[in-house]
Amino acid sequence: MQQRTIGNVQVSAIGLGGMPMSIEGRPDRQRSISAIHAALDSGVTLIDTADAYHLHADEVGHNEMLIAEALASYGGDTSGVLVATKGGHLRPGDGSWTVNGHPDYLKGAAEASLKRLGVEAIGLYQFHRTDPKVPYAESVGAIRDLLDAGKIRMAGISNANPAQIREAQDVLGGRLVSVQNQYSPAFLSSRPELDLATELGIAFLPWSPLGGIRRASGLGSSHTPFQEVAEARGVSPQQVCLAWLLATSPIVIPIPGSSRPETAKDSAAAADLVLTDDELAKLNAIG
Ligand SMILES: NC(=O)c1ccc[n+]([C@@H]2O[C@H](COP(=O)([O-])OP(=O)(O)OC[C@H]3O[C@@H](n4cnc5c(N)ncnc54)[C@H](OP(=O)(O)O)[C@@H]3O)[C@@H](O)[C@H]2O)c1
Repeated sequence: MQQRTIGNVQVSAIGLGGMPMSIEGRPDRQRSISAIHAALDSGVTLIDTADAYHLHADEVGHNEMLIAEALASYGGDTSGVLVATKGGHLRPGDGSWTVNGHPDYLKGAAEASLKRLGVEAIGLYQFHRTDPKVPYAESVGAIRDLLDAGKIRMAGISNANPAQIREAQDVLGGRLVSVQNQYSPAFLSSRPELDLATELGIAFLPWSPLGGIRRASGLGSSHTPFQEVAEARGVSPQQVCLAWLLATSPIVIPIPGSSRPETAKDSAAAADLVLTDDELAKLNAIG
């Protein structure tokens, strides 16, 4: 599989997003484990998760535990797999999502994620979402302290605007390695952040790269150029979408979510799909 860089680590150009395995509509545990194993079989070495990927209030970290279990039960070598988790976003259990960016909360959340993942230090820890009640520098300051304490190996942010990316880079003393924002054919508004990440040489992880859990299967019908290129190439429109994202910048590493082995395998194959200039021009015309 083609490799890309996060900080000082090489990872597969296509990652795996764990959210569909743990929120509304999630499959049974065994299917999720099979999906993670299928991604690993396909060469995926980046798995994105969050402590907030769960349904009920008493199962915080459902997805982190699933990933830890899948890595432990995988037959092959998993030493090169980077698990990227997040803190600062919460699910009280009533279906809503809330935020908490207080430094003490974030430090406690990271400690809990570390235990659930069963590691000495979290590979990549991302501040999930801005808390309007807490100055951004204070929240990111907690991530810096975690880095300094060796609790996390690399620091990232998510749902950030360009000013916050620059502020985080400053607070972290130049050690920000990644930004994770929504970006897909259905949501192109994070282009300024993608361009800034390219300029700064940090990784950009598009979330919901296929348009999100509910819309992913209809990508080809919602965005017909992707369907047309897919038909001409004999691949899925989702694979074309991921290859198109890879072509936008060498710092882009999509993290498509999967809850089935079939989709995990199909998405991973996008790393080998090289689109022509004509195909890219046709796809870029959607913006
Ligand atoms: N930072 C944030 O605030 C934030 C927010 C949302 C998501 N995320 C992260 O980003 C990841 C991806 O986003 P997402 O899961 O919301 O949306 P997505 O990746 O756009 O779509 C996920 C859905 O796409 C389907 N799919 C995947 N590959 C496919 C393929 N090759 N062909 C057909 N269908 C395919 C999957 O179906 P099956 O379930 O049937 O396999 C899955 O349910 C999440 O899992 C999560 O890790 C982060």
